[in-house]
Amino acid sequence: FSQYQYIKTETRGRVAIVTLNRPKALNALCTPLMTELNTALKAFDQDANIGAMVLTGSEKAFAAGADIKEMSTLNFVDNFKNNFIEDWTGVTKIRKPIIAAVNGFALGGGCELAMMCDLIYAGDRAKFGQPEIKLGIIPGAGGTQRFTQAVGKAKAMHMVLTGDMMTAAEAESAGLVAKVYPADQLLETAIKNAETIAGYSLPSVMMAKELVDASFEMPLAQGLLFERRLFHALFATKDQKEGMAAFAEKRAPKFTHE
Ligand code: CAA
Repeated sequence: FSQYQYIKTETRGRVAIVTLNRPKALNALCTPLMTELNTALKAFDQDANIGAMVLTGSEKAFAAGADIKEMSTLNFVDNFKNNFIEDWTGVTKIRKPIIAAVNGFALGGGCELAMMCDLIYAGDRAKFGQPEIKLGIIPGAGGTQRFTQAVGKAKAMHMVLTGDMMTAAEAESAGLVAKVYPADQLLETAIKNAETIAGYSLPSVMMAKELVDASFEMPLAQGLLFERRLFHALFATKDQKEGMAAFAEKRAPKFTHE
């Protein structure tokens, strides 16, 4: 029995795996799916036994975007009053790292969802795009902003104005994707990397994520100061003592995440 209809969740050691599971609609991100996703990610964020998460879809689609059929009858006033799509930003409030493992299509809201994660690994046949322009709209969950931050103006303008798709190889060379793996090895590799991250001291991992994110919001001098202060702060953890003692003693550290 699962409490979820549109996603599947499992854990492997300290890694949580969330799989978008709406195959008939290529994981189109309908409202109940996003509600379930936010609930699951928040629960894992609060779970002391979890250190990192992997978000994935199917071989055919990570997610083909917001649900076009659900959106087709919406109107401006309701969107405005309901602040349509604002609830998606729940994903960006998660404090533990989330890896997006993207096979197949990551289009529109699907690409935006992947970009809300902390890093993207792609299968070699993945396709990324912001095709909203073809529907008479524009991206509404970060496609004009995060895409531009990731790949720069030239490629972002091209993608957002033409609706063209980008291959995994192009996405990697443009800086959208951290690494590309053969499609059938993507998920296992993403989980393995998540296990590596989850094995490190959680406070240091969470601070590292917070600081990289802060670099997009802060002037350099403030960002560097914030970094130095958190660097100082980590010397108050048991894990810093353990990590450095283990190095000196030529053994593997045993982090307790405190
Ligand atoms: N919303 C709702 N249903 C969708 C969907 C979406 N975004 N994408 C695919 N589906 C459904 C299709 O309607 C189809 O359902 P039926 O079998 O009931 O007809 C099923 O998924 C399979 O899709 P296709 O038959 O189209 O599969 P394909 O392999 O021929 O094409 C595709 C794949 C190129 C991804 C194509 O489905 C497609 O172009 N999808 C829409 C992509 C898109 O425009 N995304 C942006 C949405 S807007 C947005 O996301 C706004 C935002 O910024 C938040």
